[in-house]
Amino acid sequence: MSLDDLKPLEDNLLAQVTAAEDERTLDEVRVAALGKKGVISERMKSLGKMSPDERKEAGPILNSLKARVADAITARKETLENEALNARLAEETVDVTLPPAPLAKGRKHPITQVFEEVEAIFADMGFETREGPDIEDDFHNFTALNFPPGHPAREIHDTFFFEEKENGERMVLRTHTSPVQVRTMMNEKPPIRIIAPGRTFRCDSDQTHTPMFHQVEGLVIDKGTHMGHLKGTLEAFIKAFFEADELKTRFRPHFFPFTEPSAEMDVGYERVDGGLKIGTGDKWMEILGCGMVHPNVLKNCGLDPDEYQGFAFGMGVDRLAMLKYGIPDLRDFFAADTRWLEHYGFAG
Ligand code: DAH
Repeated sequence: MSLDDLKPLEDNLLAQVTAAEDERTLDEVRVAALGKKGVISERMKSLGKMSPDERKEAGPILNSLKARVADAITARKETLENEALNARLAEETVDVTLPPAPLAKGRKHPITQVFEEVEAIFADMGFETREGPDIEDDFHNFTALNFPPGHPAREIHDTFFFEEKENGERMVLRTHTSPVQVRTMMNEKPPIRIIAPGRTFRCDSDQTHTPMFHQVEGLVIDKGTHMGHLKGTLEAFIKAFFEADELKTRFRPHFFPFTEPSAEMDVGYERVDGGLKIGTGDKWMEILGCGMVHPNVLKNCGLDPDEYQGFAFGMGVDRLAMLKYGIPDLRDFFAADTRWLEHYGFAG
């Protein structure tokens, strides 16, 4: 056997290698030539049947043929891989001049916004923020606040009760933020100047009431605190909140068990072009309850009413948000509708 005998076979195999346009076809060529039953492998097997002299001549010839075909396949494979990579790179180029896809950004709920505004205004006046639990016991929600057991005033809050415990006690979803007054007075020494924002709950649902709503409580306890401090503080707050220098307000006598005297604070308003204008006009809108802390409450919290006095107030945050930002329906606050939030929400 000479190299010339194998020339047509070699040419044929190399031509197949060059003609292979993808890696799969190339691999088929490799198997047909070098695989177990491939043409070159078959030739190698025939070496065993040759005489030692013949084998000495044919062995190197076959081996070099095998090596050349294998090299050609490896080289072709590399070429095909490079071509594939280049094609992908060309296809997947990034246009860095394109504007970025818009990022969906969350909006701040108006209630959160108003909580933050109220906290900031009172912080400027030296008030700190305190929080209490949503689930309260009867003592903090009622008894300590001068609603004695069986007192009819308890009925004004449509309370959500938990199941009675073995000792007869029933926990409640707090009906107001006033229990945070009790917790603060029992845990801290006067002078006290705090607000307590939070969730409150009453079993009530219609156009202007939702079972969950929001309040901010306020409490000041010191020596010599009087109603002038109460009026001045709340008027300053309302002006800052509604961003008005002149704003009509009035205090109207009212009843709360935990304050004496008690009042509700109204702001003047008028209707302009179908909307509400706050601060002017001859109509009145109630915005918060307030009063001087009842001596019984001070005593219940371990303070001596002859030494300390104080004032307290509580306001509905949902109502404040509706008035300030012209939000017509209370229930939308709780609908979790992102389109509504897109419109009424605030940039974070
Ligand atoms: N807790 C009262 C309510 O939810 C609001 C209130 C009125 C709070 C007068 C006060 C206050 O601290 O002094 O209806």
